[in-house]
Amino acid sequence: SFRVGILTGGGDCPGLNAVIRAVAKSLMLQHDAEIIGIRDGFQGLIERHVEPLEYVDVSGILTRGGTILGASNKANPFSYYRRGNADVSAEALKTYQGLGLDGLVTIGGDGTMSIAHRLAEMGMNIVGVPKTIDNDLVGTDETFGFDTAVSIATDAMDRIHTTAQSHHRVMVVETMGRYAGWIALHAGTASGADIILIPEIDYDVEEVARVCQTREDSGQRFTIIAIAEGATPVGGEMAVRERIEDSPDPLRLGGIGNMLAHDLKDRVTSAVRTTILGHVQRGGSPTAYDRNLSTTFGAMAAKMMADGQFGRMVAYQNGGFTSVPLSDVADKTRTVGLDNPLLRSALAVGTSFGQKDL
Ligand code: F6P
Repeated sequence: SFRVGILTGGGDCPGLNAVIRAVAKSLMLQHDAEIIGIRDGFQGLIERHVEPLEYVDVSGILTRGGTILGASNKANPFSYYRRGNADVSAEALKTYQGLGLDGLVTIGGDGTMSIAHRLAEMGMNIVGVPKTIDNDLVGTDETFGFDTAVSIATDAMDRIHTTAQSHHRVMVVETMGRYAGWIALHAGTASGADIILIPEIDYDVEEVARVCQTREDSGQRFTIIAIAEGATPVGGEMAVRERIEDSPDPLRLGGIGNMLAHDLKDRVTSAVRTTILGHVQRGGSPTAYDRNLSTTFGAMAAKMMADGQFGRMVAYQNGGFTSVPLSDVADKTRTVGLDNPLLRSALAVGTSFGQKDL
């Protein structure tokens, strides 16, 4: 019979279960397929940690956060951390062949798509589904999980707003997003943040302080700053490289939000506080929008599997659904352009991006 494996690569993300459900149900209902769940991302493929998924297993999971399959963002078959970073891709291929899989659906971000691309070149029939709260995958205008992360961050900033107002404080809110500013831009704009700092625009700390102080002096006695975790002060490239790339625990040490608060504290008269939103942005139930995006992506991936359209990732472009070659997505990051319509609108309504002229 037709047998398809599913794995969720990289970190967890709201909507993963909705995709698993859509892929599995579509393939079961339309193609009488057998579905094999692979545990903990590529780790399960390398170590043959798998289990058949029955219809009941994928029933009732649409709204659930996390992934029923488990995740591992360290398990790369081409450099496997559990075996001294050896290339164990042959073992992954052995599992795939040993299970008699006709194909494998890999749900993940840029790292997962890079691995998937290389495994496809070794002969696996792969269809990718674009997952990440960061929204930074090339080839698709949207990834599932982003809308949920933006809603959570927006809600958090709305709450920060009322406490900032009460205490006349400068409140720094650090969002996730890795090297891209999508979450900070969207949540910051949605909650009316006064300053939004994103990796795509190096910020000038003097300008940030000036905006805070001008607000204070003119009687608007609080300021909300949304800062993406990958944001960089002008001239601060080294610090960021150390913080992001050389850190043993990438991005989680200290945080740029704390660094900014520290830099602001002697430059403004208001008290300054920082909130790092962290993994709360990835947890819990997906929004209605993400549930539907996940269901559409999943049903499409199932159809591509059945039609033999392998080596591709499902995608959303210019309001329609399509697919792109995995090779186009591998090892790339989609960042916020300076001509981004939301960024331009935020500028138009007076939001500062930490630079005088933009
Ligand atoms: O890619 C999703 C993401 O949450 C990023 O926004 C963040 O930089 C990173 O993952 C955190 O990874 P970890 O799960 O290792 O803490």
